[in-house]
Amino acid sequence: MRRAVPPRLPLASQRLIVITGKGGVGKTTVTAAFAQAAAAARRRVLAVEVGPGRLGTLLGAATVSHEPTRVGPRLAVARLESEAVLGDFVLSALRLRLLARRLLESTTFQVLAAAAPGLPELLVLHRVAGWLEERRLGRPAYDLVLLDAPASGHSLPLLAAPRTLGALARFGPVATLLRNMERMLHDPATTLVFLVTTPEELAVRETLELHQELDVGLGLSVGPPILNAVPRRRFTPTDVAALAALDPDDPHVVAARFHLERRRQAQAQYSTLRRTLGVSPVRLPLLFPPPETSGGIDALATDLARAAGLAA
Ligand SMILES: Nc1ncnc2c1ncn2[C@@H]1O[C@H](COP(=O)(O)OP(=O)(O)OP(=O)(O)O)[C@@H](O)[C@H]1O
Ligand SMILES: [Mg+2]
Repeated sequence: MRRAVPPRLPLASQRLIVITGKGGVGKTTVTAAFAQAAAAARRRVLAVEVGPGRLGTLLGAATVSHEPTRVGPRLAVARLESEAVLGDFVLSALRLRLLARRLLESTTFQVLAAAAPGLPELLVLHRVAGWLEERRLGRPAYDLVLLDAPASGHSLPLLAAPRTLGALARFGPVATLLRNMERMLHDPATTLVFLVTTPEELAVRETLELHQELDVGLGLSVGPPILNAVPRRRFTPTDVAALAALDPDDPHVVAARFHLERRRQAQAQYSTLRRTLGVSPVRLPLLFPPPETSGGIDALATDLARAAGLAA
């Protein structure tokens, strides 16, 4: 059975927020905006991307690596790539560097690591858990870790990794590690997953399916959907009525009609999400010029903060 979706964005409480959705819907953009909104609310934030992407650039980092780079007073960014996390894990598990290097270089190990279902994903989670536990001057180094997760198809294996591997290891240190990861993901006070979608029928249908798989299938807490790139309201009802009397072939009229139709579709998709999930989606506007130009991420961060009840 589906659990109730929390109605607000808990920017002020959760420790791990995972952001996923279909390819190209704005996951990285939304992660960057979330990071800025939470840092502005005085939380110490680490924004993490899995694999190479634009998160660092959006947050103003010159370079991004698997070690956090500070980009603001309370904001850092890092990138995890499965080969590097595998190396980290082996080095920390096998403290003897020489032995670890030999193991990492061995073809047998590389083949095994590539073949073990969920192992690279588990190591990403293991690294994230390490950051959540890290302490500096007696308090957590980061209040919130934001994970810009891979697109839908790859996010499920990531979030299912502890369970997938749990079937292979029931006892010993690996089993303990898997149990800890499961606990981290399944504690609603710690972890919340957000699905980003654009207001198009296909994207919304896929979002509803993914919501079901994450919630019912994996038992994770999923936040209200983030409906990104919603065309703004540009015309009043009087304008719309006036439009009907104008030359339908005039390029300005064609453009206005196109805008109205996209907005109508966006509203229909908003209603579908709200009806199906029983919660109001968080709407973010379609920005032109796009959000990566100056001020775009800040504008989206303000909208998210408002949705989280953190701003007026
Ligand atoms: N609210 C918005 N308004 C206008 N353009 C947007 C908005 N959000 C995202 N975009 C644009 O959509 C494109 C994809 O955004 P983004 O890279 O954040 O998506 P993604 O889901 O992370 O993609 P991928 O699946 O490739 O990682 C970018 O060119 C971005 O500028
Ligand atoms: Mg991305």
